[in-house]
Amino acid sequence: MAKRERMLSGVQPTGQATLGNFLGAFRQWRAQQEEYESTFLIVDEHALTVEHNPVALREGTLQMAALLFAIGIDPMHSTVVVQSHVAGHAQLAWLMECTATYGELSRMIQFKDKSRGSAMVRAGLFTYPALMAADILLYQTDLVPVGEDQSQHIELTRTVATRFNHAYGQVFTIPRAAIPPLAARVMDLSHPEAKMSKSSADGQGNIYLLDTDDQIRRKIAKAKTDLFNEVLYVEDDPERAGVRNLLEILAALTDREPKDVAADFQRYGDLKEATATAVIEQLSPIRERYRDYVADRTQLSSWLAMGRERASEVASHTLARAYEAVGFLPSKEVKNGD
Ligand code: TYM
Repeated sequence: MAKRERMLSGVQPTGQATLGNFLGAFRQWRAQQEEYESTFLIVDEHALTVEHNPVALREGTLQMAALLFAIGIDPMHSTVVVQSHVAGHAQLAWLMECTATYGELSRMIQFKDKSRGSAMVRAGLFTYPALMAADILLYQTDLVPVGEDQSQHIELTRTVATRFNHAYGQVFTIPRAAIPPLAARVMDLSHPEAKMSKSSADGQGNIYLLDTDDQIRRKIAKAKTDLFNEVLYVEDDPERAGVRNLLEILAALTDREPKDVAADFQRYGDLKEATATAVIEQLSPIRERYRDYVADRTQLSSWLAMGRERASEVASHTLARAYEAVGFLPSKEVKNGD
């Protein structure tokens, strides 16, 4: 039997997960987990790249684990692991920092966005993509399902992996990104020119996965539209970004083409109502299951311990090969004649 390919992706445990995370990433993870050897990382080390609260980080890490299980990630089949539990991430990251170049890291859009206007930019924010490359390469990953905002980081991962293999010998699998055809970039409902983001300031344009049905209906009812007064799916028109976003959300949730969905509606109000209903249908069972999972800390810790064990095995193997390839002296005793 052919070896199963490996799928890996990750999420930061800061802030509340949004409909953007769900449509851009989590839904793909759930749907494809059985086809692959799947690993999902809760990337707490990445959370340190911007100002953070230690208590909130620890709690957020457990909550994110509960959320992933509530969404339908199966702990028996998939490996859910906290990044800091496997030392190999930070260790391989150093090798990646010494493989990526300053110029490459300077060109990362996310670095430019997140550092803009900040007086104290942490060095880790700059080297963040090297840690992300380590996350992916440590597990010999074939496929990385992510939203569109991560595609530049995956491209860089491919570049550094290829460079490393070329310089030191074949150590890493070269991964490919899997970006969903629809809703790869869910926009803020109040500011449809900006990405829906768990770190956005007021959060009014965000649908959070744990929002109540009422909150979801209210936020979608208030979503910004336009004055054209026709339900049309037009790509690349900034004036129509609000309606386009709603159509993409509804199309993604109902597995249809946005243009076909648009043809069903005359009024924005009806489109909003249908979108809210489809979102609630997906999210309310997750919210129910989340309540049980988050309350059972013993179960969560045992699933995460299982994840760490499985992940460590692959990770330590790759790390040993990478260390040897770059010329590090093995730490075991070297005897004459070895
Ligand atoms: P993070 O935590 O920002 O987001 C997790 C996933 O959600 C996707 N996403 C979106 N998709 C569509 N529309 C949106 N508005 C939206 N907002 C977020 C993201 O694209 C992502 O797939 N650097 C990563 C975490 C990471 C990682 C990795 C991912 C660390 N190591 C290794 C893959 C492989 C991040 O900050 O994701």
